[in-house]
Amino acid sequence: MPRDAYVNGRYLPHAQASVHIEDRAYQFADGVYEVVAIQDGRIVDEEPHLDRLGHSLDSLRIGWPMSRPALKLVMRELIRRNGVRSGSLYLQVSRGVAPRDHAFPRSKPRPALVMTTRHAKPANPGQAEQGVAAITIPDIRWERCDIKSVSLLPNILGKQKAVEAGAYEAWQVAKDGTVTEGTSTNAWIVTKAGELVTRQLSPSILSGITRQSLLKIAAEAQVKFVERPFTVAEAKEAREAFLTSTTSFVLPIVTLDGARIGDGKPGPVARRLRELYFAYMGNAA
Ligand code: PDD
Repeated sequence: MPRDAYVNGRYLPHAQASVHIEDRAYQFADGVYEVVAIQDGRIVDEEPHLDRLGHSLDSLRIGWPMSRPALKLVMRELIRRNGVRSGSLYLQVSRGVAPRDHAFPRSKPRPALVMTTRHAKPANPGQAEQGVAAITIPDIRWERCDIKSVSLLPNILGKQKAVEAGAYEAWQVAKDGTVTEGTSTNAWIVTKAGELVTRQLSPSILSGITRQSLLKIAAEAQVKFVERPFTVAEAKEAREAFLTSTTSFVLPIVTLDGARIGDGKPGPVARRLRELYFAYMGNAA
């Protein structure tokens, strides 16, 4: 099926969609993004994603490229044109196009908006059934990881390290030995004592929308949790570990730096939360 992209006011065939060479995102990574899941042709957790987009834009003093209702219309139109039933939509807003100069352009260019969609990859049930490997790496990012900026070099280098180690994800570790988050996912454990733990929100991590929804789901299912930092040592001794994101959902981790977590199989809490999350996605979309 031919695929369209949305670029600054136009729907264009994907292969012909391009931005200006002086787009600030291209030259400075001066932009923000969102990835939303599409389920049954509808957007999952649209409002929280748009709220977070607003937070990212405000934090960098970039304006909305169009009103929120208009943005929603464009998202729906692109999903419709591309016939996406299950997949994801990528949305990027940059500060706009201007001659290269570090300071914000005085010309106040219109923020540039790009959107693409993707059909879901064929399901890889083995991955969730067997669990995945993760490694740990130092967290070398800046102090505003709550902003979903397209400036992702440390994340890219970290993910590549994971891939080269045969792992799915790299958990980033702060100087104090605590895990912040994965390169594109949030991090969770079920401790030796059976406590479900994920790090509390702060500028050290992205406020994952999957994380946010899963905490609500856990509360409704009377699964107790605590939001606090945990160390790598605690994670290695944990009963279970897993990660969350818009595109990975809830995915069990069974080894960390080669050390087995629990019995080396996805644990009951992660499996249950994964099921509950899928049920939620079906309803939330
Ligand atoms: N990544 N932490 C980081 C650093 C992320 O980049 C992401 C999302 C998450 C999870 O957030 P959410 O649950 O809202 O997807 C946590 C997206 C999927 C990406 O960059 O492709």
